[in-house]
Amino acid sequence: MRRKLVAGNWKMNMTAPEAEAAIESCVDLVSLKDNVDVILCPPFLTIPKVRELTKACPIGLGAQDVFWMPKGAFTGQISAPMLLASGCSYCIVGHSETRGRFGKLEVPAETLCYFGETDHTVHLKIGALVAHGIHPILCVGETQVERDAQMTDAVITTQLEIALTGHDPEELDELVVAYEPVWAIGTGNVCDTAEAERVCGMIRSILEDLVGQELAEKLRVLYGGSVKASNAKELFSQPNIDGGLVGGASLDPKEFAAVIAAA
Ligand code: PGA
Repeated sequence: MRRKLVAGNWKMNMTAPEAEAAIESCVDLVSLKDNVDVILCPPFLTIPKVRELTKACPIGLGAQDVFWMPKGAFTGQISAPMLLASGCSYCIVGHSETRGRFGKLEVPAETLCYFGETDHTVHLKIGALVAHGIHPILCVGETQVERDAQMTDAVITTQLEIALTGHDPEELDELVVAYEPVWAIGTGNVCDTAEAERVCGMIRSILEDLVGQELAEKLRVLYGGSVKASNAKELFSQPNIDGGLVGGASLDPKEFAAVIAAA
């Protein structure tokens, strides 16, 4: 039986003082739930504050991205050893936003190169994380255009294959995969429950091929994209959905606590 997991992705929100207020109002609610793992992924600069505030409670700490080299002339980047030293045990990789699939910025597309993330750099990041004992939360998912072209399954298969092939399955024993349809992120358009379950089930069967059946049965597959208190229970009760990666709703302590309660 897989334990449910709810991870809050704060994205570029929450200064340290803001985090203090948010965590104070949800720590007690979270501490009561001993049958669900809860993780917070604050921005890098807020990590030390969240670490301090969650020391005495079972909230896990995660980062939102990592660079794959351990150190060196990589301006603006944060390495896996740095995350480890800051107390992070999880790290999101391959989020559609670090893959540059925002679709929301009012800046001409040709003037941007975003963060330059590809399936191959996601692969490298996973290697750096597991080498330091940090559990990757690997995000996969299709855009609206890809869904309309019936490419959902192919896109996700490629993302998983490139990210995971070549890593020792033993090192992936705490991997988390999040199915995050890009069109559902931050839009309020949650994926239909049956379809989310179908894709999460497909992800598990691809994992079987990539890491073996025994491990694939153990790994947690989350759904992410407009999860909130009102839809979490139905999503999380599906056999292949082991919890959620929650963006907007994780910024409101009451709403986040209700999502955790649903798990
Ligand atoms: P959302 O974001 O819950 O705000 O849709 C989810 C995510 O991007 O991880």
